[in-house]
Amino acid sequence: MSLTSLTKTMRLAPSLLAADPADFGGALTLYERGGADLIHFDVMDGHFVPNLSFGIPVLKALHARTRLPFDVHLMVANPDRLLDDYLKAGAARVAVHWEATTHLDRTLDHIRQAGAKAGVAVNPATPVELLVDALPRLDYVLLMSVNPGFGGQTFLPRALDKARRLREMIAGAGLAAEIAMDGGIDRGNIARVVAAGVEVCIVGSAIFAGGDPLANMSELRERARPETL
Ligand code: DX5
Ligand code: ZN
Repeated sequence: MSLTSLTKTMRLAPSLLAADPADFGGALTLYERGGADLIHFDVMDGHFVPNLSFGIPVLKALHARTRLPFDVHLMVANPDRLLDDYLKAGAARVAVHWEATTHLDRTLDHIRQAGAKAGVAVNPATPVELLVDALPRLDYVLLMSVNPGFGGQTFLPRALDKARRLREMIAGAGLAAEIAMDGGIDRGNIARVVAAGVEVCIVGSAIFAGGDPLANMSELRERARPETL
């Protein structure tokens, strides 16, 4: 790993999925006070993943209440049909799943043309090597470290090797694509996640895993600092 990637600051993206659905506004305030860099917004359709979450009206309402950028993770079949609505509702970044997208180039272009950052999310069983030809046309890769569909699952350590392989692919091609990781990140593994080359850590349940959520956010950030690796 290069010195440059070790000295980069990790960006924290708290996930709304872990918050109390009766008080998403309160969660936004909490995440802002805890120094969130992005708000992770998990969209689940009950088809691509076996669960439903929230969608466009919720994004629109919350977007009006914060200046933090929304990081939209579309866990949906046929994401193209929904893209424009999410982009209009305030998504600053949109990731579609590699496994759900037929014409990835076209979809990524569409997101970028709307002025948002374009990402591709990959399931744990999908090799990062499949992204080699897409990398020049995307802004970030969202590596799933759990099988998507539910918060609170156990981190899959094989995601770390995928992050290292992807980091090498990106550096080898002289590209600037960013690596995000999503699922099961907590105080015990965040240092290893960042050491593997991950720049954006998406965290849900670990923020509410006992104790004060603000203190938990600050501990996660502290444990991800390069000097503590
Ligand atoms: C899982 C979602 C995640 C989830 C992360 O399908 O994509 O973003 O909110 O939550 P934790 O940190 O609880 O695994
Ligand atoms: Zn997610």
